[in-house]
Amino acid sequence: MSQKTRKILVTSALPYANGPIHLGHLVEYIQTDIWVRFQKLQGHECYYVCADDAHGTPIMLRAQNEGITPEALIARVHQEHTADFADFHIGFDNYYTTHSPENRQLAQEIFLKLKDAGFVFKKTIRQLYDPEQNMFLPDRFIKGTCPKCKAPDQYGDNCEACGATYSPTELIDPYSAISGAQPVEKETEHYFFDLPKFTDFLQKWTQAGHLQPEVANKLQEWFAAGLQPWDITRDAPYFGFPIPGTQDKYFYVWMDAPIGYMASFKNLCAKLGLDFDQWWRADSQAELIHFIGKDIIYFHALFWPAMLHGAGLRTPTRINAHGFLTVDGQKMSKSRGTFIMARTYLDHLDPEYLRYYFAAKLTGRVDDIDLNLEDFAQRVNADLVNKVVNLASRNAGFIKKRFGGKLAEQWSEEGHALYQDFVAARAPIAEKFENRDFNGAMRQIMALADRANEYVDAKAPWVLAKEKDQEAQLHEVVSVSINLFRVLMTYLAPVVPAMAEKTATFLNINNWRWSEIDTPLMAHTINPFKPLMTRVEMDKVNRMIEASKQHLQPKQRTASKQTDTGEWEPLAPEITIDDFAKVDLRVARIIRAEAVPEAKKLLKLTLDLGFETRTVFAGIKSAYSPEQLEGKLVVMVANLKPRKMRFGISEGMVLAGQDGTLSLIQPERDLKPGSKVS
Ligand code: MSP
Ligand code: ZN
Repeated sequence: MSQKTRKILVTSALPYANGPIHLGHLVEYIQTDIWVRFQKLQGHECYYVCADDAHGTPIMLRAQNEGITPEALIARVHQEHTADFADFHIGFDNYYTTHSPENRQLAQEIFLKLKDAGFVFKKTIRQLYDPEQNMFLPDRFIKGTCPKCKAPDQYGDNCEACGATYSPTELIDPYSAISGAQPVEKETEHYFFDLPKFTDFLQKWTQAGHLQPEVANKLQEWFAAGLQPWDITRDAPYFGFPIPGTQDKYFYVWMDAPIGYMASFKNLCAKLGLDFDQWWRADSQAELIHFIGKDIIYFHALFWPAMLHGAGLRTPTRINAHGFLTVDGQKMSKSRGTFIMARTYLDHLDPEYLRYYFAAKLTGRVDDIDLNLEDFAQRVNADLVNKVVNLASRNAGFIKKRFGGKLAEQWSEEGHALYQDFVAARAPIAEKFENRDFNGAMRQIMALADRANEYVDAKAPWVLAKEKDQEAQLHEVVSVSINLFRVLMTYLAPVVPAMAEKTATFLNINNWRWSEIDTPLMAHTINPFKPLMTRVEMDKVNRMIEASKQHLQPKQRTASKQTDTGEWEPLAPEITIDDFAKVDLRVARIIRAEAVPEAKKLLKLTLDLGFETRTVFAGIKSAYSPEQLEGKLVVMVANLKPRKMRFGISEGMVLAGQDGTLSLIQPERDLKPGSKVS
């Protein structure tokens, strides 16, 4: 089986450095890792690189909230991610960070090449600015009332209630999600990447076999809508790389993130003495394969090839997109305990269960994949434990006890024919791995496992073992069975590498190259059998779910992407009693309430604090009419810095809660206005 050796550089998307790895992420890293291990076992020169995506506003703000530098935050998360991946046997050749010298240099070089070639232009834009935080606000950090359906507290780019998309300046009563202040519009000069200039190039490129057909089709909609120039600039304060020739301007995180693939590989090249340019110049013969989730297709199938092409570099060979993970048929959910962190899983279950289960579910298409927990336990037990491990365990004892650990020296025609059938499945199984049809590959492998077990059942070695003159026949049957097991494990090695390693010790072999199975193990001594994998216990699965309910990670509301459904508002970072004592809460009586005609949500309240009177604007118009309020006692934050709003100055805040209906928080008995609340 000789085939030309391919040079393949493979990547998975770079996970954000502001949160832990969860099972959704792992769909991608496990899928890529299986593919890479498969290529390596074919003897190809294949490298798998990845990195933490370390830049951007969410990371900057999270570090601020924790009171540490962004560098300290990304260093900590890098360690956590590295440990999670290692424990799931994700075999990166390099796991780096986008906050690296290589990436800074490459990002700046590529930017300058694009600029010199006329693919970058400057434009002054108007953007919303937080006057308290002194920063421009990314869309995700502006909230307000949806202009279409009027749902309150929607993000600046789209409404989670009605699904409308809009620009943040269209929000009604916008406020900064960071400080709560009302944003103002401000001018700033930004660099844009001129994507429309690449329309012809991209039309051809996206139809040239680099993408799955359903992805190429989806892109047609985007072409029809017309490509737009891409804003690649962010103003200070920002955690990222400075744009050459500017002050206080940074590359947008999505500009240097994909360049992070190159930077991680460049770092690897230095370690291994590889020629970086040979892999990246425009006429490179090497393959470049990206694995990504369906949510980031736009960046990888449009911006990225255009950037590379514009900078005179090679473009990707393939972009493989996968779907999203659901658990028991639903979006992962923190309250149901199905938003499962990698670490929580590892505390309870064997990582190879999940590797096998994902393999059994993954096809080369973009469909979402479901982790059904009952099915998970059943499938792993039925396939890996009952069919595969059992095949070894039911034969190994005879080899050891009856034949001194040595496999037979010769087989009959029948034994050879069966073995050859198993070897002949190599090409179709390899093709399925190559096309990422792991589901198809697993089914074919398990069908072979069934045949192997039927062979053992039919030959009944336990019966042969009792008959004096059946020694040779017994030796053949158990030796052929062990050899069939070896072929199955060769095919499964990319999926369950740790089990394969234990098996290598048992079989006394030193690698799992697929070409090795051309020669069966004859007259070969094997080692005593030790259990290779234990059954999945539903008990442990349930405990993992419980633990996922308990270990709700306090998460900032500034999370950059809400791929999860937190039905509960996440907890803010812990504070001390001294922090709390800084908030001066007082009882106040509403002496006047008036509607603010220009504001959809606001009522203007005049509050009696006993020792003074205050004006406060409160967003409670949808829940109370002014006349309902006069005379009521409320609790107010009395030492809040006055905030200038469009309609006047707000001198404090009244406490209110919301679970769909908005309600003021009131003292249970009458208290004198001005009384302290603690
Ligand atoms: N940092 C960007 C990628 C930059 S690549 C130059 C990013 N990070 S991410 O942490 O949000 O996601 C990393 C990868 O995990 C993405 O490919 C994403 O699609 C995938 N997944 C994240 N959640 C997922 C599920 N729930 N299910 C399946 N894949 C998911 O995007
Ligand atoms: Zn809406």
